[in-house]
Amino acid sequence: MSPFGCWGLPAALLALFCCPGSGEGFEIRMYPEQLLVEPGGSKLVNCSTSCAQPEAGGLETALTKSLLQSGPQWNQYLVSNISQDTVIYCYFTCFGDQKLKSLDVSVFYPPKQVLLKLQPAWVAAGRPFTVECHVPAVKPLESLTLTLLHGKEALCNKTFTGEKNGTRGATVTHNGTAHREDSRHNFSCHAHLDLRSRGGSILHGVSEPQMLKVYEPRPDNQMVVIISVVSVLLFLFVTSILLCFVLGQHWRQRRMGAYGVQDA
Ligand SMILES: *[C@@H]1O[C@H](CO)[C@@H](O)[C@H](O)[C@H]1NC(C)=O
Ligand SMILES: *[C@@H]1O[C@H](CO)[C@@H](O)[C@H](O)[C@H]1NC(C)=O
Ligand SMILES: *[C@@H]1O[C@H](CO)[C@@H](O)[C@H](O)[C@H]1NC(C)=O
Ligand SMILES: *[C@@H]1O[C@H](CO)[C@@H](O)[C@H](O)[C@H]1NC(C)=O
Ligand SMILES: *[C@@H]1O[C@H](CO)[C@@H](O)[C@H](O)[C@H]1NC(C)=O
Ligand SMILES: *[C@@H]1O[C@H](CO)[C@@H](O)[C@H](O)[C@H]1NC(C)=O
Repeated sequence: MSPFGCWGLPAALLALFCCPGSGEGFEIRMYPEQLLVEPGGSKLVNCSTSCAQPEAGGLETALTKSLLQSGPQWNQYLVSNISQDTVIYCYFTCFGDQKLKSLDVSVFYPPKQVLLKLQPAWVAAGRPFTVECHVPAVKPLESLTLTLLHGKEALCNKTFTGEKNGTRGATVTHNGTAHREDSRHNFSCHAHLDLRSRGGSILHGVSEPQMLKVYEPRPDNQMVVIISVVSVLLFLFVTSILLCFVLGQHWRQRRMGAYGVQDA
């Protein structure tokens, strides 16, 4: 008899009464533990259990799935055409006891397009301009950082708080005043989608560089303005003098006329 023999029966009874279904201690594992996928993508999922002889097992999902391989303690599925965030469940039954494990599936939209706009693109020194960067259809927003750069200098960076449904995109704007040196470096916009906390990597997107064309307000232009203003003033001055003169003459004539009448 084995040294544990005398404990065998009580142990089995204990297991039976205190934990109905001796499969109580079994575990379910899913690999990978997080699923990150591009829209329309497919992923392999492996469901396994510590139960030595599971009676049943499967994957519960509204997505298209197919069983590719299986072993006594695992099933490997291909889950395909994943178009939105969802949860899938893996289950096994062991000694009549069923357990579930869930797996979060997140769909991400990489920052494929990063659109940079300078407004106006042609600006006089000292005048305001706006740099706007827009990334359409990017998700999840809470993993996104947009950075506006002028040459190598970061003008600003913006992080976002996500909306569950949002694929509306993200925008960052910066208001500046044009300096002559601004046209020496291009403006650009960098998008970083940091998916590391979800089991992914960092995805980058960069806009086309854009140059701000800065011009000096032309001095001859100013001269034209000054000359015009002076001319107008001169014209008004001369006109008023003439008017005074004419009116003066008129008034004198009338006075003379009045004397004439008095004299008559
Ligand atoms: C699925 O996972 C189990 C347990 O980790 C492992 O033994 C099995 O080889 C895996 N199957 C595949 C196809 O990777
Ligand atoms: C993929 O899913 C979309 C919507 O979820 C559906 O319209 C389309 O028919 C599916 N494609 C395939 C090949 O199953
Ligand atoms: C934000 O911009 C600063 C420079 O202004 C940079 O040092 C920092 O790394 C940026 N943060 C992120 C999260 O990109
Ligand atoms: C997300 O979209 C669904 C329908 O597509 C809607 O029922 C739900 O209220 C939306 N949720 C949010 C947070 O906007
Ligand atoms: C930039 O200026 C516009 C108006 O010209 C204003 O609506 C916007 O809020 C400003 N943006 C920032 C980041 O200051
Ligand atoms: C700015 O970008 C343009 C292309 O848009 C490029 O031809 C030019 O060399 C760049 N200038 C600098 C200073 O990097």
